[in-house]
Amino acid sequence: MALQVYYFTGTGNCLSVARTVADRTDGTPISVAVALAGGQIRTDADCVCIVFPVYLAAIHGVPLMVERFLTELQGISSKRVYAICTSGGYEIVNAVPTLRNLARFASESGFRIDAEYTVRLPMNNLDYDHIPVPIETDSATIIRSAQAQLDDICERITHGRQGKHHLARRLFAIGMTPLNVIMARASMKSLRQLAHEPEDSALGFRELMPLTDESIRVDDTCTGCGTCAQVCPASNIQMIDHRPTFLHHCEMCFACDEWCPEGAVHHWGRPDGAKYHHPAVKVADLRGGHGLRAP
Ligand SMILES: Cc1cc2nc3c(=O)[nH]c(=O)nc-3n(C[C@H](O)[C@H](O)[C@H](O)COP(=O)(O)O)c2cc1C
Ligand code: SF4
Ligand code: SF4
Repeated sequence: MALQVYYFTGTGNCLSVARTVADRTDGTPISVAVALAGGQIRTDADCVCIVFPVYLAAIHGVPLMVERFLTELQGISSKRVYAICTSGGYEIVNAVPTLRNLARFASESGFRIDAEYTVRLPMNNLDYDHIPVPIETDSATIIRSAQAQLDDICERITHGRQGKHHLARRLFAIGMTPLNVIMARASMKSLRQLAHEPEDSALGFRELMPLTDESIRVDDTCTGCGTCAQVCPASNIQMIDHRPTFLHHCEMCFACDEWCPEGAVHHWGRPDGAKYHHPAVKVADLRGGHGLRAP
């Protein structure tokens, strides 16, 4: 079984998962950002796996770039498609609805998700109103527990076993719908604020998310090194006069914030100085992984 493992990542959790899955299944990890940058996306593999982080589960959860990648992957309707999402919060209220939205998106786009899996990894934005924030010392424990989940996922993928969530978990997620509606309203409100749009803006989340870079602040410690532009999977940062300029097609991945060597980039909700990236992933992996050279 030839398996191509595509990943989208900001702070390395999904890259680490993609590497493990690829190692265990004789697959190859490929960055979604690199695949999209190369024009037509083709693969001879019969099975593809997409690994992505959950973003704003209450609204949609699936990163925009992941949706774009899936619709641009040629022949996807005739391939076996596995989805693995990593979430910082509890799976049942974050990953399960996200995967449900992904399945809906897939069916509207003419393909299907054959198996879906979730892995809980440390929360990279380090602030989430209704979910306990794993502090740095917890990260190692969370990553260790994720290993067992990942072993099971790799085993299932290798043996082509069913990977849908149990009915009970899906029913629980459906029971959460009223709460989700309230959370979605609150998330849309904050999304409008982050995008610097008025309260009565008619823009939906797909239009608002790219504009959230309006709220990214770069302080005076910036040395103009260009790392943020190199690690941005969306090529959303251009260096102008040795300063990063944001181009408003942001994916909200937090990579620029996390990997800035000076800690000069500040996102909403992330306390100054608070950092998280997967310990097995280094900035060089993302520079190379996204296929970009220093500007
Ligand atoms: C803007 C943003 C929104 C997020 N929203 C959620 C969320 O709604 N639920 C959740 O469980 N995790 C959420 N997360 C956490 C990430 O999904 C999680 O940490 C993921 O493993 C990060 O993957 P990466 O390191 O590959 O980028 C969010 C992260 C960011 C940056
Ligand atoms: S990575 Fe940090 S220091 Fe380097 S250009 Fe970007 S903001 Fe400035
Ligand atoms: S600008 Fe920053 S947050 Fe937005 S996509 Fe690029 S690296 Fe991610």
